[in-house]
Amino acid sequence: MIPSACYGLARKALFALDAEHAHHLTIASLARAPFTGAAFGRAGDDPVEVMGLQFRNRIGLAAGLDKNAECIPAWNAMGFGFAEVGTITPKPQPGNAKPRMFRLPAKTALINRLGFNNVGLDKALSNVRSARRGNMVLGINIGKNAATPAQQAVDDYVTGLMAAWPLADYITVNVSSPNTKGLRDLQAGDARDALLGALSASRVRLQDATGQNVPIAIKIAPDMDDDGVRAMADAAVANGLDAIVATNTTLARDAVQGLSHADEVGGLSGAPVRERATAVVRVLAEHLGGRLPIIGVGGVTQPEHAVEKLQAGASLVQIYTGLIYAGPALVRHAVRAAKQS
Ligand SMILES: Cc1cc2nc3c(=O)[nH]c(=O)nc-3n(C[C@H](O)[C@H](O)[C@H](O)COP(=O)(O)O)c2cc1C
Repeated sequence: MIPSACYGLARKALFALDAEHAHHLTIASLARAPFTGAAFGRAGDDPVEVMGLQFRNRIGLAAGLDKNAECIPAWNAMGFGFAEVGTITPKPQPGNAKPRMFRLPAKTALINRLGFNNVGLDKALSNVRSARRGNMVLGINIGKNAATPAQQAVDDYVTGLMAAWPLADYITVNVSSPNTKGLRDLQAGDARDALLGALSASRVRLQDATGQNVPIAIKIAPDMDDDGVRAMADAAVANGLDAIVATNTTLARDAVQGLSHADEVGGLSGAPVRERATAVVRVLAEHLGGRLPIIGVGGVTQPEHAVEKLQAGASLVQIYTGLIYAGPALVRHAVRAAKQS
């Protein structure tokens, strides 16, 4: 998608900077002036109920752009139906060494190995508490600290679940970032079952204690094979989860070979992940047959890509990299395309 003339200028200035510097500048501007994004036009309404929640439209902000929940009013003003903040870990952590975020403009793509740099639950959730979110649905995405040993990973997620419970409309359990050692091991086998079992037991306790329910989603990688995807879907159903977010970034590099930065370690996002991410949505939809809703994410850089995710079986769609390349107008166009589909 060609950016609007107005965003085209902003993008030129931002793309002249290192990718992470541009990111911080954008977050700081949106935090200070939440209505900047709204200047690109407000998205219309296309109400839908998913996970028992009312969404004003099907297009959401994917996790990772607003890790510390600093810009919730801006996402609301931009017209997103929902925004997922995080990934938030129990304790603050700096993430990996810089540079750790790279643009691949020829393929409308990014590679990042940020490694859950975030201010931790206390501060991020205090940001959530003080933010006006209007009628936009808010997801809180939780993860584990890099320093937490694999055997204690479950404790970090339970801590995140308990802390986010009073503030989130839904909570996403991120077990699919490629940038935290061992994280993706939580997607399969005994480690997965132990994690989902613990979350399910904690949720019953939280329901009893608070008298409220908060839907829980799990976010998966595009790099699992189809049988792994089906096994994850079965485990999600068996443990009473409410949705699957498909997908996170990919380790695959076939689509970007030979390009500058293609060999950087990390997760690849944007156009090159679209096809596999949509295929994962399709595998999930066929296997689940409506038992759980799917949130489709990966490579939505044009409005019709959102429609593609919905047609593959997603109920909701999220965007990250497309927003960087196409600008906030993509939200409005994607909402309209989804509504007409
Ligand atoms: C710079 C960057 C940071 C990200 N950080 C997170 C994160 O903290 N947690 C998470 O669940 N996903 C994270 N993601 C993954 C996105 O949420 C999304 O799943 C992925 O990028 C595919 O969507 P896209 O092609 O629209 O970007 C990140 C992606 C990027 C590009």
